[in-house]
Amino acid sequence: MASNLEMIGRDDVDDLEAILAVTNTDADEIAHNVTSHGDAIFTWDYERSRAALGKLYERAKKSQWNAQTDLPWDTDVDQEHVVLANALANNMTFGPELDVAGTPFANWGDKEWLEFGVQSQNWTLSQFLHGEQGALICTAKVVETVPWIDAKYYAATQVMDEARHVEVFAKYLDEKLSGHYPINAHLRLLLDDIINDSRWDMTYLGMQIMVEGLALAAFGFIQQMTTEPLLKQLLRYVMADEARHVAFGVLSLQEYYQELNASEIRERQEFAFEAAVRMRDRFLQQEVWDHFGIDVKEAVKIVMQAPERKTFQALLFSKIVPNCKKLGLLDAGDGWLRERFTELGVIQFEDWVDTGEEYASLDEVAKDREAAAATA
Ligand SMILES: [Fe+2]
Ligand SMILES: [Fe+2]
Repeated sequence: MASNLEMIGRDDVDDLEAILAVTNTDADEIAHNVTSHGDAIFTWDYERSRAALGKLYERAKKSQWNAQTDLPWDTDVDQEHVVLANALANNMTFGPELDVAGTPFANWGDKEWLEFGVQSQNWTLSQFLHGEQGALICTAKVVETVPWIDAKYYAATQVMDEARHVEVFAKYLDEKLSGHYPINAHLRLLLDDIINDSRWDMTYLGMQIMVEGLALAAFGFIQQMTTEPLLKQLLRYVMADEARHVAFGVLSLQEYYQELNASEIRERQEFAFEAAVRMRDRFLQQEVWDHFGIDVKEAVKIVMQAPERKTFQALLFSKIVPNCKKLGLLDAGDGWLRERFTELGVIQFEDWVDTGEEYASLDEVAKDREAAAATA
């Protein structure tokens, strides 16, 4: 059984010093090489025996969209205006409600908080971009390593989806925002671990269940909250794709986990826990505090006390926890993962809707086409 130190590199999950010690020291690198283990598997069994995956594949073929022509790229985006309008629309205070006397924020006024809002947008969209490239690489790997023909077909459509997602986030950052951030070190560690693992189902668990489950929740939150129409539409389309991707993970792993023994399931639980911690750590936004030249540890301590921050952090797990439950990972082996998720403060989502079927109601591309056909 692995210890916290072996799984996440520290004994105490909340050890802030250790979390912030993980930083990206290669911020200027152009390429990042990761060894990808695992066999490329040919199958000579071409029989279409997995109807649910077949249905998902048909849906994916019909729901392709074009990043260049299906989004209103002529929308003018004034970042400062968006920060202010979002705060107003969501009844959020500008800057923390907490007492900041004696903290690095003591001298911050509206100007600084506005700039923080702008940098936060740059950072958030940059991490989405890097995460999408992770998904592109992982899904290409799934095409090679998954042994089932229906899953290879489906995964091939996801490769195209992820290319489109990288494309839209890169274009949005270049044309509408004011700066890029390099990949967050915690996110990079997680992507490296997923790609490195030789077991085909671990690519699925790390990417389709954990990273994409979190992305679906985060995109949903921002899609609801933002007043910027281009980003709203962009996220609506990306989320429709992501819902299929998470469903692909749930459907495939549900079948495969039936074959695994208790110790193999425990390894999957540990991997899910490691991924959850890495993703929670990445949302501390340490690179943004660094950008402002303030003490990162002090800044994180203050920000983490804000109640809306805690709600947002927890909500990020609203898709992951029910999906882990559906896969049987929550309660296997005396509920080991249930205990970990309880410690992380996210167990309350266990009975929220899982993503096995949600993709059908989220098919925004099909809805728009039907609406356009009806008015034509
Ligand atoms: Fe994606
Ligand atoms: Fe995806």
